[in-house]
Amino acid sequence: MPPPEARVSAALAIDRESICPNFVNGQWVAPRSLEALERRNPADPREIVGYAALSTRAEVREAVAAAMQALPAWRAQPAPRRGRILANAARRLEDHREDLARLLTREEGKTVGESRGELARAINTLDYIAGEARRLTGETLPSELLHNFVYTFRQPLGVVGLITPWNFPVAVPVWKLAPALVCGNTVVWKPSEITPLCSRRVVEVLVEAGLPHGVLNMVNGLGEEAGDELVEHPAVEAISFTGSNAVGAIINAKAARQFKKVQLEMGGKNPAVVLEDADLELAAEHTVMGAFGSAGERCTATSRVVVVEPVADRFVELVAARASALRVGDPLDPATQVGPLVSREQFEKVLIYLELGKREARLVCGGGRAPMPDGLGGYFIQPTVFDRVLAGSRLAQEEIFGPVLAVIRVRDFEEALAVANGVRYGLTASIFTTDANRIFQAAERLECGMVHINSPTVGGEAHVPFGGIKGTGCGERESGSTAIDFYSELKVVYVDYTGQKRDGNLY
Ligand code: UN1
Repeated sequence: MPPPEARVSAALAIDRESICPNFVNGQWVAPRSLEALERRNPADPREIVGYAALSTRAEVREAVAAAMQALPAWRAQPAPRRGRILANAARRLEDHREDLARLLTREEGKTVGESRGELARAINTLDYIAGEARRLTGETLPSELLHNFVYTFRQPLGVVGLITPWNFPVAVPVWKLAPALVCGNTVVWKPSEITPLCSRRVVEVLVEAGLPHGVLNMVNGLGEEAGDELVEHPAVEAISFTGSNAVGAIINAKAARQFKKVQLEMGGKNPAVVLEDADLELAAEHTVMGAFGSAGERCTATSRVVVVEPVADRFVELVAARASALRVGDPLDPATQVGPLVSREQFEKVLIYLELGKREARLVCGGGRAPMPDGLGGYFIQPTVFDRVLAGSRLAQEEIFGPVLAVIRVRDFEEALAVANGVRYGLTASIFTTDANRIFQAAERLECGMVHINSPTVGGEAHVPFGGIKGTGCGERESGSTAIDFYSELKVVYVDYTGQKRDGNLY
């Protein structure tokens, strides 16, 4: 087993060029820290892909200063001009889609097909938000007074801080950056320290597309230092974060002390509900896609199936057959369906859940490390299904973020909804049935932000709001027009055009 990602001294033999630099005030700047974090290819950890800088608080403060300086000119730009830069970035991303997809796969481990999909989503987001530049609308409202009216318009928040995860290192940053920029904000972005190369490429694309100096600044580093400085810095008006609940809770508490606007996108424990009248083949196909795509490292992954007893045996059989037939392996091979987990830490965490599952439930397939040919000593885990999982058990309650599916058997529709809702999270849910009444009842009663009817729990479109309730999310939805709501303030203007003194106050 190769060593886990390690901190290395940048003063030693590593080529300083291979440390991803920060981007501040339009310049690539070498990090000052003498330490960097090694990034290894998760499919073959013998290969070092690059190094992430471990930036200090002072470096974050410099980035915030650059963003403050760039703000007046950027917010004064007509929004359609800002939109044009995003449209340019979309075309550049399209031109580089293939090399970026391969880089994403080498750095993060998802299959090259999944990486292409992620890039498509980022391109769609840029195109959609570029169009929103021409629709940064307010409203006009009538007044109760003669010759008066009221209107609203949008203004940027100022400097915003973005903190993004490793599992979608291109699409998630883009769906925060694009609306932040189009609204006229300037940005300091702290990407995940696990995916520094993809982050660097995202910045390059936006800069080549014409972003002026200081409008977008990127500082690599760890959450507890670089991320924390961003959250605590008084000039940062808002924080958008995607990641774990543990970190989200810290950010929320700290930001609240300064009344910062916050958007948190956190964990999921998404159920697929399968009823007796479902097309079981379709349900099995979509459940497997939802559970094992991106090796389960996705907040929208299907991690529970809640199936009614009369069809449970047959359904589990169909799922197990498909799960065991999935091709786990080299994520650069187009035939591969499941790539490695992102890191040794993640891999070891999932192995612990597998052992727990073997004690708590009945193992149907998978259950361990996937044996790899070709000396690929990567972090591969077999697609794993546990049956007869108890609804209250850890396997059914905790977010695993790996290729592990828990099947929970229930009596009927009512119990299925109660079990589906019986977790702290509320991101997505699927229901498989042909009963139209139950489809609409489930859409109403499932406690989550997004419901999928006869389709997998994963996925979303660029122009559609994305997010969840309960322990999953907080603040405005990402993506879609709601992203614009988060990154802008609405100002209200009362207009009196009578030109006369008022007789008295209306209220
Ligand atoms: C998707 O599954 O549609 O971190 C994208 C995550 C999400 C993005 C998921 N915020 O997994």
